[in-house]
Amino acid sequence: MPLLLAVVLVVLTACGGPFPQSALAPRSDFSTSLDHLFTNIFWWAVVVFLIVEALLLYAIARYRARPGAAAPKPVHGHTALEIGWTLAPALILVFIAVPTMRTIFETAGNAPEGALRVEVIGHQWWWEYRYPTLGIGAANELHVPVRTPVQLEMTSADVIHSFWVPRLAGKRDLIQGRINRIEFSADSTGEYRGQCAEFCGASHANMRLRVVVQLDTAFQAWVDRQRAGPTAPAKGSPAELGQQVFRRSACIGCHTIVGISQGKVGPELTHVGSRATIAGALFPNTTDMLRRWIMNAPSLKPGALMPPQGLSAADLDAVVAYLQSLK
Ligand code: CUA
Repeated sequence: MPLLLAVVLVVLTACGGPFPQSALAPRSDFSTSLDHLFTNIFWWAVVVFLIVEALLLYAIARYRARPGAAAPKPVHGHTALEIGWTLAPALILVFIAVPTMRTIFETAGNAPEGALRVEVIGHQWWWEYRYPTLGIGAANELHVPVRTPVQLEMTSADVIHSFWVPRLAGKRDLIQGRINRIEFSADSTGEYRGQCAEFCGASHANMRLRVVVQLDTAFQAWVDRQRAGPTAPAKGSPAELGQQVFRRSACIGCHTIVGISQGKVGPELTHVGSRATIAGALFPNTTDMLRRWIMNAPSLKPGALMPPQGLSAADLDAVVAYLQSLK
């Protein structure tokens, strides 16, 4: 009994929220139509379940073996019954298929005129975003304005990934050489978590992402900041030393910082200091995490392409100061 009580309590705590990644707490037109579809079909399934169970219980009670009762008469070749139990499930399937098809078309990704376009490129294991109409890019943290249609045009740089932010949109596959689309309009501001939903290698589970839904003014401020060039480090500051270390290290081979380097393998770092997270939205963007990440990324995220960097303690401090200065 205490065990049962404990199980019930554990199950009930799941009802408490705040649902950072639940498709049942939708915050966009896309996820709301999925939620409606699910809820609708769920309650119809409950009705079917109750009818079937009631009939079953009735049959068990009515026809159970009793001492002295005659053996029941088997039914064979009853045309009406056979048509009935073929038609009923077929009708149920049609009943499910029609609203499902309607929702599939509704969420097919056809954006209205004036939607904000964002190109999403999946990498092992992080997300690249490009805003072609705004001339900016970002990584892992997707910023969008609230109550504005957003169209994601998605592809992959390597294997198949799947974009999934349960409270906003998805899942939808990112496939090399193809563009798949999602269109959604978020109805409230906030930060929404998501992750890759298609197995894509060792760190598939570590391929997280965040969508930051902002008021127009906050979004515009973010765009302006991303458009600006990188912050120049102050003369003689640790950040300036860090810039020199960055320039002469392996960093430049893989990362772009506007005006400094043009690497294309890893995420662009021009404004890395303004991000809340690093490493595919896996870790908070703190001094300690940056240090550990630079020194040995694969130990924190299996398969991460960035090899351990053999920097001296002083060089590491400087590079971290530099990256943090890139707001
Ligand atoms: Cu990308 Cu799983």
